[in-house]
Amino acid sequence: MTRPAIEYVADMLGMAYIRALEVATFYFMFQLQPVGSVAHIQICGTTSCMICGAEELIAVCKELIAPAPHTLSADGKFSWEEVECLGACANAPMAQIGKDYYEDLTADTLRALIGRFSKGEVPVPGPQNGRYASEPLKGLTSLQEFESGRKQYNASAQLAVDFGDTVKRIDGTEVPLTTPWLGKSASDKAPAKTATKAAAAKPVAEEPKAAKAEAAPVAGQKPAALSAPRGGKADDLKIIKGVGPKLEELLHSLGFYHFDQIAAWTAAELAWVDDNLEGFKGRASRDAWVEQAKALAAGKPPAEK
Ligand code: FES
Repeated sequence: MTRPAIEYVADMLGMAYIRALEVATFYFMFQLQPVGSVAHIQICGTTSCMICGAEELIAVCKELIAPAPHTLSADGKFSWEEVECLGACANAPMAQIGKDYYEDLTADTLRALIGRFSKGEVPVPGPQNGRYASEPLKGLTSLQEFESGRKQYNASAQLAVDFGDTVKRIDGTEVPLTTPWLGKSASDKAPAKTATKAAAAKPVAEEPKAAKAEAAPVAGQKPAALSAPRGGKADDLKIIKGVGPKLEELLHSLGFYHFDQIAAWTAAELAWVDDNLEGFKGRASRDAWVEQAKALAAGKPPAEK
């Protein structure tokens, strides 16, 4: 994710840039540097994994991929990073590769996995030491009656195998993402040839009727607008919770500069504004701008953002 992309999303959501950047840097499904074309290997370095050998796994990544995290390997196929607990502590040490967990790793098994990924193979995820799931190493001590009826792999690994590609990449063949705020699937314009079996088998769920009703044009009446702020000075509309620099600019372009203007909107006028906030439709009623503006016009402190 590039800085302009992060700032664009912040603007779209009416948030300070730092808030969007905090999300992008906190969650490790977001990457600020390019990742390997085959796999980005995320080694869990938290307590259970660390005491079971995560440092040896990191040493393998440094040797085979790049000495520093978030750096592409020489062939561009791999990158790596250390991440916090991935919730598979009973199978420590482990790594997330692509969308799947590879567990019960050793330096040697990770080395072999990277080699297989490099050759274009897709190793079966899950425990790499022969364990079925997270049962004791010496075998089941309870629920033994279920052992005979189980599938070849545990549920997660089996699903990954059934999907057929454990290092699923965002290459246009994935199941279409939805963009409910635009009322359509992100891939509506994608060429038909990019549709996959998975996409065909799992069409994007129809939006709930209520959401469709919200997206329908709303009858309304344009509120009284000004051609310029009174006295040449507009109120700081960004004080209103949910209004960022972009929305303030949009409000100005519609002729709204002051809290008392917004405070006076009737229900029909609010509906008109909601419907004319290009890219932010419905935001005025969702964030109760009229109530907030009434309080601000009366000199009360702004709502906490
Ligand atoms: S400590 Fe590694 S998965 Fe929890």
